[in-house]
Amino acid sequence: MTSLSTAQTKPSTSAKTSPAGQNRQAALTVNDAKINALIKKMTLEEKVAMLHANSAFAAGGIKRLGIPEIMTSDGPHGVRPEQGRDWKGVKGANDAGSYMPTNNTLASTWNPTLGYAYGTVLGSEARFRGKDIILGPGINIVRAPLNGRNFEYMSEDPYLISKMVVGYIRGVQDQGVSASVKHYAANNQEEHRNDIDVEMSERALREIYLPGFKAAVQQGGAHTLMGSYNKFRGQYATENAYLMNTILKGEWGFQGLVISDWGSVHNTQDALRNGTDLEMGTDLALMYKSVDQSAATGGPSASRTIYDQFYLADAALEAIKKDKTLEPLLDDKVRRILRVMYATNMMDGAKRQPGAYNTKEHQATALKVAEEGIVLLKNEGNMLPLKKTVKSIAVIGHNATRENSLGGGSAQVKAKYEITPLQGLKNELGDKVNITYAQGYKIARDQKADPQMIAEAVAAAKAADVVVYVGGSTHGYDYTKWSDNAYDAEGFDKPDMKMPFGQDELIQAVLKANPNTVVVLMGGGPIDVSAWAGQTKGIVEAWYPGMEGGNAIAHVLFGDVNPSGKLPFTFPVKLEDSPAHKLGEYPSTPGNPLKQTYKDDIFVGYRYYDTYNVAPQFAFGHGLSYTTFKYSGLSVTPGSKSATVKLTVTNDGKTAGAEVVQVYVKDEKASVKRPEKELKGFEKVFLKPGESKVVTLTLDQNAFQYYDEGKKQWVLEPGKFDVLVGSSSRDIRLTGNVTL
Ligand code: GLC
Repeated sequence: MTSLSTAQTKPSTSAKTSPAGQNRQAALTVNDAKINALIKKMTLEEKVAMLHANSAFAAGGIKRLGIPEIMTSDGPHGVRPEQGRDWKGVKGANDAGSYMPTNNTLASTWNPTLGYAYGTVLGSEARFRGKDIILGPGINIVRAPLNGRNFEYMSEDPYLISKMVVGYIRGVQDQGVSASVKHYAANNQEEHRNDIDVEMSERALREIYLPGFKAAVQQGGAHTLMGSYNKFRGQYATENAYLMNTILKGEWGFQGLVISDWGSVHNTQDALRNGTDLEMGTDLALMYKSVDQSAATGGPSASRTIYDQFYLADAALEAIKKDKTLEPLLDDKVRRILRVMYATNMMDGAKRQPGAYNTKEHQATALKVAEEGIVLLKNEGNMLPLKKTVKSIAVIGHNATRENSLGGGSAQVKAKYEITPLQGLKNELGDKVNITYAQGYKIARDQKADPQMIAEAVAAAKAADVVVYVGGSTHGYDYTKWSDNAYDAEGFDKPDMKMPFGQDELIQAVLKANPNTVVVLMGGGPIDVSAWAGQTKGIVEAWYPGMEGGNAIAHVLFGDVNPSGKLPFTFPVKLEDSPAHKLGEYPSTPGNPLKQTYKDDIFVGYRYYDTYNVAPQFAFGHGLSYTTFKYSGLSVTPGSKSATVKLTVTNDGKTAGAEVVQVYVKDEKASVKRPEKELKGFEKVFLKPGESKVVTLTLDQNAFQYYDEGKKQWVLEPGKFDVLVGSSSRDIRLTGNVTL
């Protein structure tokens, strides 16, 4: 196992860390004097030219003043294949890069240090490919199990997101590339993503949907945020006065730039006044036509292109000429763009980091994140780890040979290589073990199980000592066609939470043929496993584990690696149990597809299941290990508005392993309805057999406060708080309390 270099495992607090709690945005303003002098030299036309794309993924640039274009690229788990200047792939480009595990795999590691290592890879490869902004991470709350883009996001819990996103951003930005945290805000589904109008309480906004973005801005020092497609309280999010001016740039002190999603700007005045700084993309229909739209339609002059028809292009120029009071707003946008360019070493001939591509180090990080992100969901009778002395293994399921990197939509990566689960098992076992393979099901539009394929799978299962079933979800049928994305993909929500392609029937037949079957699930969100989970001894969740995924799966199944992943979101028993469906209005207000009120409010994920006593299939924070951990000696010491939690964790098993110690807080009595428990601290500890470690966590006032809608501020209501410490949200080992 290649170990990570120190450079890659530098703790998430990089050298330039500001004292805890201070806002890292200040760093972006250090060049303001130079920037203001530059703005003074610019004509109105030049300033406006900075505010919008000049091709599919590039923007701005003023040659006369030595201001380069900004090059952007997707995506959250790897640098996308070259999209050329008019949204078409570039033949022969050297653009096959590292395909990292998806963001929810990273979240499942609950290891902020790995977040930094992950961001380092992404930033380094983006630099190498000549990109200035990488369009990731994706941190929207996993609220709805069917959301097509859950695979690109991290968690149902804002605290876990806050801890994982900071390292990622610092890792990217320490490589001289800007991160773009998306999609701000409340873009929690793909159904009607372009025009649904989301309503929610101020508490839900502040306590659930914003904290990840706030941490990304203030602790991560994110240089850019991407405005989302949907509306929020009646106004498009990307040009939304409350989200962009009041909260992001006002309260949070964001000094960087707001980039639109591609085509998420809808109104020149709103965009000028409400904080949109850089407009990308436009009406996709236009974009797919020839670039020089106006020339084709005999527009003002042949040199005008579709990019001059953007809301923040000619129309903005006209608006500013008519209303001079808008010019300071224009200057602010240009200032923010230039701040990001300076911070990304794009100006004054600053030396840029070269970046690196497909290096052994990057591959090692991809492997490590996958190994620590895989979640052991069930291990009855210690069926796992499998013995390497096994004589024969039947590998069953199309996901065992499926390559996923090009799927999912804009997050696609052309992987330099992608180790499939079957390949990983072959790498692990060599020719010592007889490995057979049966595809079992087809990834195709017709959902029916294929009796012939089931028969083959059953025969293979019968003939083998052990069965490794690899199934679950997929991005879609044929990724070369956008429209063929259909499951874990942008632009589409999933049809349901069931295992697609008749897998339930197949798995049950395989289990009957050979109970010595371990089921490996792949996919980007919760899956309904109720049809067969009870009869299965071993279940592993592997998400989309990236280019080294097959090796990581094999290392976990055969015990080279002791799994330490924990679920970043709940697996409900059935879809109807989900709060977005039960209390919320997913996918929209009945009778009005363009509106949705998040009536589930703050009760998202385990906050709902634990408060409303609905048993989940697998709980938030759940993940087993090949060893066991003992929790002892809890003490909770009150501060003035804080508490110090101390306990000892011991590995009382026979195998080295890692445990994520989770700390939840419960407000015993409050003047508002609060969740049964809320995650307010965690620490991942690596312990040898017999080794103990004292874990000390400080719960600051944020751990106890709720957002008071009347007072429009966070309040700490005095009283008694329970402190619940455990191995998952539903496996609480020790409890204490503190009165504040
Ligand atoms: C897409 C996505 C966004 C992506 C952008 C550029 O529509 O919503 O995440 O970064 O457009 O591809």
